[in-house]
Order: sequence, then structure tokens, then C-alpha cells
Amino acid sequence: MVIKTQRLSPKTIHTSIKMAGKDWSHPILLTSDQHFDSTHCDRAMLKRHLDEALKIDAPVYIIGDWFDGMQGRSDKRSSKAALRPELKRADYLNALVEETCEFLTPYAHIIQGWAEGNHETSILRYAEFNLISACIRDLHQRTGASIHQMGYSGWIFVRPEGRRNKHQVAPARICYTHGYGGGVVTRGSLNVNRRAVQWPDADCVVSGHIHESYIMEVRRERMSSHGVPYEDTQWHIQTPTYKDEFAGDGSGWWHETGKSPRPKGGWWVDISLQAGCANKVQLSPRRAQ
Ligand SMILES: [Fe+2]
Repeated sequence: MVIKTQRLSPKTIHTSIKMAGKDWSHPILLTSDQHFDSTHCDRAMLKRHLDEALKIDAPVYIIGDWFDGMQGRSDKRSSKAALRPELKRADYLNALVEETCEFLTPYAHIIQGWAEGNHETSILRYAEFNLISACIRDLHQRTGASIHQMGYSGWIFVRPEGRRNKHQVAPARICYTHGYGGGVVTRGSLNVNRRAVQWPDADCVVSGHIHESYIMEVRRERMSSHGVPYEDTQWHIQTPTYKDEFAGDGSGWWHETGKSPRPKGGWWVDISLQAGCANKVQLSPRRAQ
């Protein structure tokens, strides 16, 4: 499988996947809110998902908050108890970069896009240090991989290539935002209709941040320029987290504020061609858990 990603605009990247065979389908992995350096990060699950992606050459997209990064001197939320011993260093931010790059080195070639979340922008604001660009540079030096750095929101186009017939396949257009707002009761689902209006051109809208997980399938009637109506689907995917703050003895801020357990993992999206419409890409989300 050959995967190639290039930048189309400051906020858009385009991944092409060389496909082969008749019943072609290939997954991509959408994942956010790893909070990798947190003591609550389920690194075993994260490694399992990345190993699976590596085995099948699935393009991986990180949609913000890879880092937790809250234990620096400049952060009011820092707590000695929440600091991993290996990060107990005067150069805390360097330690964060080193530890992440050590972990991500085997996967550097399958990571296509790496977007920032509010945890990374908060480090940038208070410590004037961009964790993601430091990691991308370091991983490039270690492996030669060129990971595309992405903003808080942006677009990921994915197109299968190498089909048997000659028709050009239009890429699937995935729009993402790391996310915003709460959603204690609604689990963020009220954002679906807002986002559907904001991003009518997206085949799929992905968002993280609130540590919830759902997909919603929005059917739409569309109109071709020849006056022929047709239907399509806009998927809305809420990516969960790898951070489990609920586990433990039932004490701490998470429990004092009445927070519930959170779904862990990410979402695979199988990319295939629509039945009966061989030049349209079909997206089929399924949970990575
Ligand atoms: Fe976030």
C-alpha cells in the first residue's frame, strides 16, 4: 500500500492511497485527546491501535491534545502527584518531546497529519513553545518521515487511487476541529447541526476535546447542476480519549465534580467506493477500542 500526503492549502492536506483488487477498502485512523504524558493515559490501548494501523498501513491523523502538558511551572493546574517520574526534569518541555518521539518513532511514517488542541496551544501561549512542531522536527530527523502539521481546525482529503476503470474519483472531504464547548448532558450532539451548516461541503466532520464518542449519520438531499436530485450522507464523528480519569479509588477532582467514566479509543473510517457509483468514495466509521 502506498500512501502519499501533500498540502493543498494552509488548512488542507490530501492523502492518496494506492488501491488494488476488486473489493477494495482501506481504513484510516482518526484519533484525538491521547493526553500521552498524563498518568491517566491508557498507553497500552494507544500502542495497540497504532500497531494495528502500522500493520495494515492505515494513515493516522491526530486531532489535537496528544499532549496533556499540564505539569509545567507556568501551569496553575500542575500537581506533583500527576507527574510521571521520567518527566521530573528541569527541562520539562524537552522531556515531553523526547518521550513522545521515542514512542512515536515506529509509527512516524503512517502519521499523515498532526493537529493542535487546546493543551498544545496553552503551552504555546504560556511557555512560547510549540510541542507539535518540535516533535515533527525530531521525528523527521529520526526517521525521515514528513508529518504535516495542522491547525486547530482544517480539512483532510482522502482519495483512493489506481482503480481499474479510468474515472477520476473525487476525494472524501473530512473537516475537523479539535473541538470546543461542553456537552455534559447532550455529549456534544447539539454541535452536529451547527457544524452541518458551517461545513456543508464536508462528507465527514470530526471533532474531539470533550472526551465523548458518537457517530451521527446525516442524510441530505442534494441537487446536481443538471437538475437531478440525489442523496448523500454527512458523517459526524466525535472522537473519544485515551485518558481515563475515572479509574482509581474514587477521589480527586474528577469525582468531586461528578464526572462520569469516558469512552476510550478512536475511530477507524473504512474508505471504499460506493456500490453502483464507482467514482464516489464511501466512508464507513467503526470504533477503535
Ligand atoms: Fe481538548
